[in-house]
Amino acid sequence: MSIFKDDILKGRTVLITGGAGDIGSEISTIFSAHGANVAITSRKEERINAAAEDIRGKTGGKVFAVACDVRDYDAVENAVAKTADEFGGIDILINGAAGNFPSPIAALSPNGFRTVIDIDLQGTFNMTKACFPHLSAAGEKHGNANVLNITATLHYTGMPFQAHVNAAKAGIDAFTRTCANEWGPLGIRSNGVAPGPIGDTEGMRRLAPNEEMAEQSQKAVPLRRWGTKREIADTCLFLVSDASQYTTGAILVVDGGSWLYSPGIGGFTVE
Ligand code: NAP
Ligand code: COA
Repeated sequence: MSIFKDDILKGRTVLITGGAGDIGSEISTIFSAHGANVAITSRKEERINAAAEDIRGKTGGKVFAVACDVRDYDAVENAVAKTADEFGGIDILINGAAGNFPSPIAALSPNGFRTVIDIDLQGTFNMTKACFPHLSAAGEKHGNANVLNITATLHYTGMPFQAHVNAAKAGIDAFTRTCANEWGPLGIRSNGVAPGPIGDTEGMRRLAPNEEMAEQSQKAVPLRRWGTKREIADTCLFLVSDASQYTTGAILVVDGGSWLYSPGIGGFTVE
């Protein structure tokens, strides 16, 4: 699919956690193609540097890479300060960093549960709090600052083997709505995007590690296929753009109807 280039995000800076990941790098690329200054962060410096280089090559935009572990508040503050120094502010925060592995509750250690809560939920809080001064300055300036959290649909039905992720994403959804309430008056919108099964991603490689599981999962989606990374990136673009100015506190499900039809993501059964 070709990248449509225009300037609807010109002059805006977006900081994306997990911005070199499968879905994250697609969001970073699409936002850069639409004129945003893009800062990407995750733990692995080599990976974010390579992604930044790749995106610059594709879009010609300004892309900045800064490593941090979202669980470490000092490192988060440092990444936020470096981004604001580089681009003169932050208008949009996208919290996409996450950890996931399938495990039944009985086999999940306390540290395994905590690790996912710390990356997904605490990490979302850490980044959002650290970005607040910049987001509120942007909200005051142009009235359309944004927090956008990448969540999921697994917790709507309590997908088996995902207790840690379900708890974390449910917390993220609640946090998204609280931000919308507290920060709406400051010109900061807060929304979520809930992907269903998205092809060619680490998330689905972990949840459906073989062809049989992938087929079973796709059959259980009303639209009969997994989604694409581009479909998630385009939804993110819509939710931060002027086209959705009156939308805040919303969690937009992008899942081909998956969760309506089957528990969690794509009809996996418990043996
Ligand atoms: P991914 O490629 O593994 O992306 C996850 C990213 O998070 C990676 O870039 C990783 O980079 C970063 N990360 C992990 N731990 C971190 C930490 N402690 N600090 C900072 N960064 C950290 O997975 P994905 O499948 O694209 O998922 C992206 C988002 O979509 C996630 O929020 C996921 O829950 C959500 N989602 C995905 C699907 C799907 O079908 N794939 C479905 C529903 C929801 P480093 O390893 O370099 O830190
Ligand atoms: N099954 C059960 N427990 C597991 C596990 C698995 N497959 N993988 C990790 N754990 C447990 C570990 O055993 C450990 O608990 P313990 O100390 O009681 O043994 C705990 O989780 C932390 O593991 P560790 O490897 O130290 O964590 P980390 O911080 O280095 O990595 C993960 C975090 C585990 C989430 C790792 O998979 C990761 O970095 N993921 C990022 C990419 C990703 O998950 N993408 C999908 C996004 S949807």
